Amino acid sequence: MQATIPVGLDRKEAEAYSQLDPGRLPKHIAIIMDGNGRWARRRHLPRVAGHRAGVTSVRSTVETAARVGIPSLTLYAFSEENWRKRPKSEVDFLMGLLCRYLKAEVPTLNKNRIRLEYIGRLHELPDSVQEKMAWAREATAGNTGMVLTLALNYSARTELVDAFQSLVDAAARNGGVEHLKIDEEAVCRHLYTRHLPDPDLVIRTSGEMRLSNFLLWQLAYAEIYVTPTLWPEFRGTHLLEGIAEYQKRERRYGGLA
Ligand code: FPP
Repeated sequence: MQATIPVGLDRKEAEAYSQLDPGRLPKHIAIIMDGNGRWARRRHLPRVAGHRAGVTSVRSTVETAARVGIPSLTLYAFSEENWRKRPKSEVDFLMGLLCRYLKAEVPTLNKNRIRLEYIGRLHELPDSVQEKMAWAREATAGNTGMVLTLALNYSARTELVDAFQSLVDAAARNGGVEHLKIDEEAVCRHLYTRHLPDPDLVIRTSGEMRLSNFLLWQLAYAEIYVTPTLWPEFRGTHLLEGIAEYQKRERRYGGLA
């Protein structure tokens, strides 16, 4: 069946989209945005220039995903390890970049009917950043299109620890931990991602073959697509290439061929 090209795609994106089966798009794509530092180093620029350039990639990817009708997109913007192990000046720069992105992007998110959510230990972020995040979430809360989730100060192991603690706390409030019943659904209900289906596709840029503590529970059956493209060079067309690769794979969820 010939796909109807969604409004707003550029020529290259339209060409890439025409190769896809619109009936088999992933429902949730997660992206590990990597390679900002290498991109900057290759140009003899400071690392932060890579992060700044990465915002253009975020914009292009988010808009293309929304235009082609991906229901959920999750971006690994900032890991707990980044927060602890990078120089304060770089962390401060990333926080400022996030605030500027939120302020500048809310009108475009609304225009594209995108709802913003966050995952991670958000309460550990600076108050001023949390305020801006809450404002942007509020401002997009009524949108019914794609859910864009930003992982900030995120670690999958910490998420599991927090989920188990939350399970125990809930049981203690509801008659005592002796009644605690843990199964997969119960764990899912207490993860930061309880508003989302599991990703069908995880994309990692800059060629590294690692999950880096990202959505370890939720990626159990996800297809993994690694591209050598560095994040600042990643655009909507690269996203569509990742989806094309996903559509070539046969998903068996542990079953037989
Ligand atoms: C990894 O590159 C990228 C990050 C740690 C930050 C990602 C942030 C952005 C793309 C911009 C801000 C995001 C939003 C949502 C506004 P790296 O520095 O680890 O690269 P390297 O491995 O080449 O050093």
